[in-house]
Amino acid sequence: MHAAVLNAFGTLPRSAEFSDPVAGEGESLIEVRAAALHRVDRVRATGDHYTSGNPGDLPLVCGLDGVGISPDGGRYYFALPRAPYGSMAERTVVPNWMLAPMPSQLSDAEAAALINPGMAAYLPLAWRGRLAAGETVLVIGATGVTGRLAVQMARLLGAGRVVAAGRNPQALESLTELGADSLISLDRPKDELVSAFAAEAGKDGFQVVVDYLWGPPMEALLAAITLHEFKAVEHETRIVQVGDIAGPTLELPADALRSVPVTLTGSGGFVPMEVRTEAFGKLCEFAASGAIKIAVEEVPLAEVEEAWRRGDRDGRRQVLIP
Ligand SMILES: NC(=O)c1ccc[n+]([C@@H]2O[C@H](COP(=O)([O-])OP(=O)(O)OC[C@H]3O[C@@H](n4cnc5c(N)ncnc54)[C@H](OP(=O)(O)O)[C@@H]3O)[C@@H](O)[C@H]2O)c1
Repeated sequence: MHAAVLNAFGTLPRSAEFSDPVAGEGESLIEVRAAALHRVDRVRATGDHYTSGNPGDLPLVCGLDGVGISPDGGRYYFALPRAPYGSMAERTVVPNWMLAPMPSQLSDAEAAALINPGMAAYLPLAWRGRLAAGETVLVIGATGVTGRLAVQMARLLGAGRVVAAGRNPQALESLTELGADSLISLDRPKDELVSAFAAEAGKDGFQVVVDYLWGPPMEALLAAITLHEFKAVEHETRIVQVGDIAGPTLELPADALRSVPVTLTGSGGFVPMEVRTEAFGKLCEFAASGAIKIAVEEVPLAEVEEAWRRGDRDGRRQVLIP
């Protein structure tokens, strides 16, 4: 079969022939319809992700999730194909418990693109961030595919105010249409950024901060919310770390945690089944009704190498079609 084959970590996958998978006990053979090229797929292929596997596992087929047809004829979202198989192929094999039906309103490409960034938008807000109606949300790194979904989702989950921070000016501007009340440009010196965060926080602060960047933007936010006096602060700031595009580490001054009530947590990895099921249902409901939108660019699987090199364009997630 045709597949996106990775021969060495740190190289680009190639469109090549790969042996056909055979389903074992408790598994389904899936005819793949669409597989998105997510950031996690890129990082896994470098060998640096905790789920990358070992050099001895190569060659392998790329792709953590997708949408396809199972032997029962149903169209399902699937994740975690059994290595060395992946979703970027004509066929793959997945554990049965990793299959979930997708609403018919979504195209194959939209359905394949939605779940990974959608969960990374929904869970930090609703689960880890415990967003309550009327609270103020700050999304840092809001211009990416996941950040754009988080802005829309915060609105749907009842946020009173949504503040979006990002670097690309055009992409940032477009977030107003998606529900952002205020925009913060990250493309400025640190002291200006600290002032901008402080101005938007105002006296009531941010209750939930969803962060896709870490590094310098988060250091600026912490500096902005740290007090330099004794003062009663009514609200808690719940910071949920999701991605680290701007830097994998952080300088964390102790008084940032002592002077104001801050909780620092993260979202990723395995999530309890009941939480995952509820989040999946909500996400599909929002997307099927058109309340949230994800933009996609369909690319033939044979062009995987070029797509990998090029990356997403205009906030559209690339989706490979076998
Ligand atoms: N934990 C999880 O479960 C989970 C799941 C999905 C995603 N994630 C993570 O969440 C993050 C966002 O994912 P995504 O799908 O939204 O990625 P994406 O679509 O590739 O978007 C990344 C965005 O970050 C911006 N950016 C890049 N470097 C930046 C910097 N130094 N400062 C400010 N902005 C910068 C880019 O904008 P410009 O370059 O145009 O400025 C782009 O808009 C990634 O780190 C991803 O790995 C985590």
